Amino acid sequence: MPYDFIGKVLITSDQIEERVNQLGETITRDYATSEKLLLLGLLRGSVMFITDLMRKIHRPLTMDFMSISSYSGSTSSGFIRIDSDHKTNISGWDVILIDDIVDTGYTIYTVRKLLLDRQPRSLRICTLLDKPERHKVEIPIDYLGFSIPDEFVIGYGLDIDEKGRNLPYIAAVDLEKYKSLYPDTGA
Ligand code: IMP
Ligand code: MG
Repeated sequence: MPYDFIGKVLITSDQIEERVNQLGETITRDYATSEKLLLLGLLRGSVMFITDLMRKIHRPLTMDFMSISSYSGSTSSGFIRIDSDHKTNISGWDVILIDDIVDTGYTIYTVRKLLLDRQPRSLRICTLLDKPERHKVEIPIDYLGFSIPDEFVIGYGLDIDEKGRNLPYIAAVDLEKYKSLYPDTGA
């Protein structure tokens, strides 16, 4: 184990691969007539997901990124800051907004509103993971990898204080162990 605070593995890399293949097939079908498909990923958590997913979408497409941070540390508040905006003028594009996980939903809710103002031809939401028990706002998720229980998870792009992104599977964090290893992080 590359990290000492990995708890239970919730989703194996085989399960992820199978689901990503299915999502790619569905998106390929849904966008069969689109000539302006843009995958718009939120940095940094969605990187592993988007690079795997794009290989399974057999349509012409473009990739772009935004970098977002929430104002108030670890607890989502609905106030987000754009650290780096996308480069593509999305007007007229079929945009799929891609994130690693929906927790409260504030991030996707806010970014979605902002993107709609920029008048894409269409906008759909794709997320690898969702924690439905934690939602604070209602958002439409068009493409979902997996629903998971209310646990803090890492791997396949997701991190805890920037650690754990390189794991090829999704695992729960053993928070007790994490706190004993990193007492100053406030996790
Ligand atoms: P939301 O705005 O509350 O939906 O928060 C979404 C963001 O919080 C995600 O893009 C992640 O960066 C982060 N996040 C929420 N839950 C987890 C988790 O279990 N592991 C890692 N990051 C998480
Ligand atoms: Mg994120």
